[in-house]
Parts: sequence; structure tokens; C-alpha cells
Amino acid sequence: MKVVVLRGDGIGPEITTQALRALTALAPDVEIEEHLFGARAIRATRTPLPDETLAACLAADAVLKGPIGAPEYDAADVRPEQGLLRLRAELGVYANLRPARADGIDLLIVRELVGGLYYGARGVRDDGTVFDTCEYTPAQVERITRRGFELARARGGRLTSVDKANVLETSRLWRRVTREVAADYPDVSLEDMLVDNAAMQLATTPGRFDVIVTENMFGDILSDLAAAVTGGLGLAPSASLSDDGPGIFEPVHGSAPDIAGQGIANPAAMILTAALLLEHGLGRRLEAAALDAAVQHALEQTPTRDLGGEASTEELGDAVLEALAEVPI
Ligand code: NAD
Ligand code: IPM
Ligand code: MN
Repeated sequence: MKVVVLRGDGIGPEITTQALRALTALAPDVEIEEHLFGARAIRATRTPLPDETLAACLAADAVLKGPIGAPEYDAADVRPEQGLLRLRAELGVYANLRPARADGIDLLIVRELVGGLYYGARGVRDDGTVFDTCEYTPAQVERITRRGFELARARGGRLTSVDKANVLETSRLWRRVTREVAADYPDVSLEDMLVDNAAMQLATTPGRFDVIVTENMFGDILSDLAAAVTGGLGLAPSASLSDDGPGIFEPVHGSAPDIAGQGIANPAAMILTAALLLEHGLGRRLEAAALDAAVQHALEQTPTRDLGGEASTEELGDAVLEALAEVPI
């Protein structure tokens, strides 16, 4: 099996080092192949997603990706984020799973990842108007909401579909399709919720949610909020999956340029992302569970600065490896 590693920018390389230590300890037989991506790729090749990198990702069993992005490119014509959107589209990873857990909270955001505002028509008209458009086909909505029902069925049996159907045409399509798909899942309870209310309830009563399924932009914003109420971005992993090809495994957070290079970033989100890769990308459930448990243990014993502790990036990585040595697989 082969995993392509894209270390990314900012804190990406530092936290990826720690994730790779855990991954190679648990899956020493897996081949690791690193490629250029993001701002580093722009500097070296003038494009964020070089052809070689894309070909390697398409041929891999899974892609482990650090965060990308750098302030110097935030409003440039060629941006790291364009490479990420293209990579997601090329791999067809339409289902982005973003779990958030803490005391009394165990929720999963299922974010549509290759449609909506991120991929709709955009441009500038002669009069100077600038536009981005939100588009969804019924088939795009059906496959992601079906994924939401499947995941809810395997967990607590409750699905919250988040939209803005009181304003948006795409949200009314979303609601219609969700209700049709619901007929195949009589064992799952479905509720519709408007996105503004969903943000409020995530902030005040996050424990009420099981699985949330939503479109691309709402899922982006709500998943940072879900991370914030469950310990912060330093703990939030994600898995981006298609139906059969390689998935992209990446933390929810960005490249954190404000703390990059200082050795103080929390690598937990990236290590937990490696756990999701073991489970969904390589089908190694036992190793994934062991890594998850090792990270929880390490965080309790050796918290990083974002959690009020003092551990460095590397010290948390050390603690995870020590805990792994003690957990039976
Ligand atoms: P960010 O997520 O990088 O940082 C937000 C805040 O959270 C910062 O204060 C940062 O220090 C902190 N933080 C994030 N991850 C942390 C960690 N592991 N440990 C400790 N603290 C952490 O968001 P931003 O500053 O808005 O974005 C920076 C860049 O990242 C932008 O270029 C953006 O496009 C990019 N970005 C990339 C991804 C991705 O690759 N998937 C995701 C989000 C943002
Ligand atoms: C995320 C990020 C990306 C997104 C950016 C970097 C394009 O914020 O993965 O949450 O908006 O999808
Ligand atoms: Mn985001």
C-alpha cells in the first residue's frame, strides 16, 4: 500500500513529522511517498498542484495532507488553495467527514466538498460587478445526503440536515432530495435546520447533535465552530472520501502562519487525521482505534499550549508514541 504525503505550508511540515512517526510505527509496511503541494509548490514550480503530484495522488491508496496556505498568496492570482480545490475535484472526494468529540459531545459533520459556491461560475462583469454562484445538481445532493444517512445509521441514528431553505434555491433542492432519500432510511430520524440556528445550537448545545449533513460552505464554517466547542482547531481531524478512489486526509485547521516554525503547534489534529487514514484509507480499524486512544491519553498527560499546557509539538508526538507502546492492538 502507498500513502502520498503532502506536508503543506506553515505548521504543516512540523505536524506532519509527528503524524508520520505514529503512522509508520503502526503500519511499517506502508510505502510513504512525499510530493510538493501548496505554497511550497508555487515557489518551486509556479503552480500549487504540479502534474507529478496529482498523478501520484491518483495512483495512491490514500493521501495524507498537511494544511496549505501562506499570507503572501492570500489574494494572489495563483494561490495554494486553488491547488487544494482542484485536488479534491480530481479525486472526487465529495464526502468530508469532520468529527468533533468532547465530554458529552460526539458529533460528525458530513460536509459536501466538491460543489456549491466553491465550484460554481464566477467572474467580473463589464460594470465591475463580481460574482460567485452556488450550484448543485440533484445527483450531487443525493450522494452526500445518502452518505449522511448511512453514517447516521451506523452511529446514533439521528441526522440533522442543515440548509438555508428560507432563502436559497439550492437549499430547497437540498431539502427535497433529503426527504426523498429519507424514505430508504426509516430507522434514521431526520430533522431539517436552518444554518443560522444550527450555528447558534452548535455554540450553546452541541451535545444535541449526532450527524450533521450540509453543503460545502456551511460545512466549512460550522466545522470550525464544532472544533471550537470541543477543544479547538488543534484537535480536529478530517477525512475526504469518494466512493472508491483514494481519500484525502487533512486536519480541519489551516497553516497557522502566526505560530509556524516555533515548534509549538498542536499536532493532535494531524495525528488523529492519520488515524482516520488508517481506518478509512487502509482499512486498519484496530490500529486506528489504538492511535486514537494514544492521542487522547497523550493529550491528558502532555497538553500543548493551545490547551493550556506547555508541551511542544515534538513532546506531544513523543507522548503519543509512548502511549502507543502501552496500548494493546
Ligand atoms: P488557521 O486554522 O491556520 O488558524 C486559526 C487560528 O488557530 C490561529 O490562531 C492558529 O495559530 C490556530 N491554530 C490552527 N491550527 C493549530 C494547531 N494545530 N495548533 C495550535 N494552534 C492552531 O486559519 P487562518 O489563519 O484563517 O488561515 C491560515 C491559512 O491556512 C490561510 O492561507 C488559509 O487559506 C489556510 N487554510 C488551509 C486549510 C487546509 O489546507 N485545509 C484549512 C484552513 C485554512
Ligand atoms: C478547509 C479550508 C479550505 C476550505 C480552504 C483552505 C480552501 O478552510 O479545509 O476547511 O475552505 O475548504
Ligand atoms: Mn475551513
